[in-house]
Amino acid sequence: MVMDMTKRRAALPIGLACCIAMLAVDHARAQLTPPLAKLPDGAVLFKQQCALCHTTNVSDPPRQGPTLLNIVGREAGTADGFRYSAGFANAKFKWDEQKLEEWLVNPQAVIPGAIMPYKQAKPELRMAIVSYLRELH
Ligand code: HEC
Repeated sequence: MVMDMTKRRAALPIGLACCIAMLAVDHARAQLTPPLAKLPDGAVLFKQQCALCHTTNVSDPPRQGPTLLNIVGREAGTADGFRYSAGFANAKFKWDEQKLEEWLVNPQAVIPGAIMPYKQAKPELRMAIVSYLRELH
């Protein structure tokens, strides 16, 4: 009985020390993971959600949609060798981040009659995709 008590008393600090060590490791891990890592990755999203229809270069033939190389700053509807729907003829603007954002919410609201069958309802995903598009040059 007396022996048991001593063992238990010795076990307590060891248990506590373990616990504290584990907490410390957890804390270190939390600090190593930058908060940015939680944001969606635009390049990955592009591959998953746009690349089926859009290339990011002019060497591959256009897919269902035009290449998005240099899209930020590019005049709407001007990718060489791509046949746009009729509404693009009246689209006299250059793509900037704001326009691209609106386009991804609802293409037909930006260019009536546009035939891109894609919409993205989540603002954080649109933002990640648009910042990736900025890098395409
Ligand atoms: C299922 C095919 C498809 C998917 C998926 C798709 N697009 Fe499109 N996209 C098109 C088509 C088709 C057009 C041309 C529309 C037209 O002619 O009316 C287009 C046009 C565009 C344009 C206008 C380009 C220009 O030259 O003016 C942009 C910008 C664009 N898409 C961005 C995106 C982005 C970013 C994604 C992914 C988040 C995406 N698209 C996903 C088919 C698609």
